[in-house]
Amino acid sequence: MLGHLLHRAGIDSVILENRSQEYVIERVRAGVLEQGTVDLMHESGVGDRLAREGMRHEGIYIAFGGARHRIDMAGLTGGRAITIYGQHEVVKDLIAARVATGRPLYFDVSHVAVDDFEMAAHEGPPASGGAKIRFRHDGAAQEVTCDFIAGCDGSHGICRPSIPPAHLQLYEREYPFAWLGILASAAPSSDELVYALHDRGFALFSMRSTSVTRLYLQVAPNENIDEWSDDRIWSELLVRLRTDDGWEPNVGPILQKGITPMRSFVADPMRYGRLFLAGDAAHIVPPTGAKGLNLAMADVRRLATAIESFYATGTEALLDDYSARGLRRTWRAQRFSWWMTSMLHRQDTGNPFDHRRQLAELEYLVSSNAAMTSLAENYVGIPFD
Ligand code: DHB
Repeated sequence: MLGHLLHRAGIDSVILENRSQEYVIERVRAGVLEQGTVDLMHESGVGDRLAREGMRHEGIYIAFGGARHRIDMAGLTGGRAITIYGQHEVVKDLIAARVATGRPLYFDVSHVAVDDFEMAAHEGPPASGGAKIRFRHDGAAQEVTCDFIAGCDGSHGICRPSIPPAHLQLYEREYPFAWLGILASAAPSSDELVYALHDRGFALFSMRSTSVTRLYLQVAPNENIDEWSDDRIWSELLVRLRTDDGWEPNVGPILQKGITPMRSFVADPMRYGRLFLAGDAAHIVPPTGAKGLNLAMADVRRLATAIESFYATGTEALLDDYSARGLRRTWRAQRFSWWMTSMLHRQDTGNPFDHRRQLAELEYLVSSNAAMTSLAENYVGIPFD
């Protein structure tokens, strides 16, 4: 998306991806787009397929104690909503847009190194061509000299570790559970998502299309996927999701399964000299509430605007503001994701007080317009700045 926005502003970029094209377009990940992400796709001209295939959801269900409670997100936020459209579909659309421009996009690169000495030497105003990236592609060593590097390479990428540790403060939190996620060939039996807390733990009903359901189960952080046969997964999902009105997910063949760890992580600041961190390279949220992709989109939109303004006017004000504004949004998303996670997961604290308090929180949420509005405005996403 950053490459796409820069292209639209007439700014050159080179995109380096260490995975193959097949890997990035086939790996199923999250699928909830905030209103701001959907708007950005449309405004930047890559929203055609999203408009046709995306599923706009104006509400979600919170289920506990055998009942489903609907939260009318659009009604509570003046018409904002989320759209279900897989992250890999977004990536496909962006790859197609990039390829159509003819600008460079390299897959399967290796040995990527950002030149931290150069960056350290240029902490002042970015002069032309002061940053360097080295990599290998098609068996040959290559080098890109550029004005800026955007570290959009995820939490295991090389950009953040290239920043001298003394320049970064890291905040981290582990959660004592993980998600086992499946993709199933089954028509979704609800047209909106269901977030459920059952005595046996959290379960989430989501979807990818009118024929594919996406579901998640709370499991232990060290869970071994080999111990989860398809039958065991379905019986656990049905027990946790079924409500007293007879609703339950449709069962079908499992197409993919995997374990998602849960972690909160923030790197502060999101910048070192000419290197700007965006998305998971700078921050990880636990998946409950689906903020990860959307935070990354907000980052690259802000970064594209800052770079565009630098070339148009020579002013660095927006570049200088990039990190502080991003951190404000990040911490707000951390708070929300932590809250959704704590409210909806079974917590083995050993003290029954905690469980009763958790149920009281859910009861309050679904009976108070103020509480539902608080969830709704964060879930659909605060407007991109
Ligand atoms: C999905 C993932 C999430 O983390 C979430 O909160 C809702 C839906 C999904 O993959 O569909």
